[in-house]
Amino acid sequence: MKDLATFIQKLPKAELHLHIEGTFEPELMFEIAKRNNLKIPFSSADEVKAAYQFNNLQEFLDIYYAGANVLLTEQDFFDLTWAYLKKVASQNVKHVEIFFDPQTHTERGVAFQTVLIGIYKALEKGEKELGITFRLIMSYLRHMSEESAFETLQQSLPFKDLIDGVGLDSSEVGNPPEKFRNVFEASAEEGYKLCAHAGEEGPAEYIWGALDVLKIDRLDHGNRCLEDEKLVERLVQEQMALTLCPLSNLELKVIQDLNTYPLKKMMEAGLLVTLNSDDPAYFGGYMNENFLETAKAIDLSKEEIVTLMKNGFEASWLRAEDKEKWKNEIERIAKEV
Ligand code: HPA
Ligand code: ZN
Repeated sequence: MKDLATFIQKLPKAELHLHIEGTFEPELMFEIAKRNNLKIPFSSADEVKAAYQFNNLQEFLDIYYAGANVLLTEQDFFDLTWAYLKKVASQNVKHVEIFFDPQTHTERGVAFQTVLIGIYKALEKGEKELGITFRLIMSYLRHMSEESAFETLQQSLPFKDLIDGVGLDSSEVGNPPEKFRNVFEASAEEGYKLCAHAGEEGPAEYIWGALDVLKIDRLDHGNRCLEDEKLVERLVQEQMALTLCPLSNLELKVIQDLNTYPLKKMMEAGLLVTLNSDDPAYFGGYMNENFLETAKAIDLSKEEIVTLMKNGFEASWLRAEDKEKWKNEIERIAKEV
């Protein structure tokens, strides 16, 4: 086997937990702010990066929403998404299922359509020119009201064919899944698939809520399930996928140290876990870095890395035959590297 970095690079990967606004690199932020005649409170990209020190989720979200404020036009959303796709193409990512936060932009007077079409055109171009297939998930902001989420659902309906699912993100503690019971039910009736962030900072009860009240198809983060044996049993029995984000957890102090990341424990328990980058521009790593840093910290074997990569496709919303194709491809390439 060649070195670990090469092994991780060469295997095809699927990314299932990625906020497109969280891919906004400081250099592009400056460029877009300038062309929109907007000021940002930093004088250089290095100064921006230096400000990325977070003690918790909220400290991150405050900076993340401030950064997103410079995005105004369809071209801005296109450029943001295209930069992400080019980056992950270089890391051999073959399929992405990405979140966007409509309310972050519609609240500022940017039309839903402007956001969606900018992102979508880049995704289409990425599929054609980079061979990256995609699904798109609009995420409701949980610090806002259920009524506002309902407005977002309404705005999405003319574009239903372009959107695959809904998610739930932003400030978790104090905003339990139950708050969004009705809008998730209505979203499912419209044919959207469902996922929700739960058990990142919030307690295991929020994961129960996401399962039983929101009736999710996939669980984002879900780390804190380990505090509840019955919950782990349930997740294993349903083979509910968890989209874990190790570098995000480290940067937001959800975990103190990667060396004690309980990933092996989760795999041994039979949980369907996947690795993802969450907000790579803010947390210091895209897919390969998440795999590599984690593998080094907890000494993942080649087999465990292969399992995690296959899990990414298994937990995706690709058709069954495409999942099989990629899992076989991973096996094939793993033997060659
Ligand atoms: N958690 C909740 N909301 C978010 C995150 C996250 O990790 N990233 C972007 N919005
Ligand atoms: Zn997230």
